[in-house]
Amino acid sequence: MIEAWSHRDYRGFTLMAPDERDAVVAEWRRVGGAALEIGTFQGVAAGVFADAMPDNRLVCLDTFEANHDAIATWLANQRPNATLIVGDADTLERLMPPRQFRLILVDGGHDYDACLCDVDVALRHALDRPGSILVHDYTCQCFAGIRRACLELLGVPTTIVNTLAIYRLPAIAPDEKETT
Ligand SMILES: C[S@@+](CC[C@H](N)C(=O)[O-])C[C@H]1O[C@@H](n2cnc3c(N)ncnc32)[C@H](O)[C@@H]1O
Repeated sequence: MIEAWSHRDYRGFTLMAPDERDAVVAEWRRVGGAALEIGTFQGVAAGVFADAMPDNRLVCLDTFEANHDAIATWLANQRPNATLIVGDADTLERLMPPRQFRLILVDGGHDYDACLCDVDVALRHALDRPGSILVHDYTCQCFAGIRRACLELLGVPTTIVNTLAIYRLPAIAPDEKETT
């Protein structure tokens, strides 16, 4: 069952359960550096992440295509170390230099094509390895396309917390081809 969670420190709600948010923070603490959230909605989970890592930069990406009102809530929840890019993974690839993020949380479009595109850009362009890609709703029956896209591009997760798949990716080996 999908649940909406509110938080006393932020406006709006998130669909990320507390144990999933804790797992994101723990993973970010482990890898350090900057983090990227693909699909940020009202910025409730982003607020939790940014407040937990105040000295690290969080970039949030969302098209806000079906929910323009969420932008105002996101801005009300904005923390000093968080910035917002309105657009999709292709926008990110055009705007950001390669390999800027040690942790990427994928929680944008929930169909196969959208997730495949997000994970592809995360893996090929955005992730600074060693680093981690986390995919929300991986175990949800109603989002079978997410699991399929992840299995195709990333394989079996390193570990799973609730619906969150965590992939720990090693440094790129010297003989491995850089695609960006
Ligand atoms: C489930 S919500 C994200 C929730 C947020 N991570 C949280 O926990 O509070 C999914 C968001 O992804 C956005 N979205 C949908 N397709 C997208 C895409 N292709 N690129 C970026 N964001 C997208 C939607 O506008 C929506 O706000």
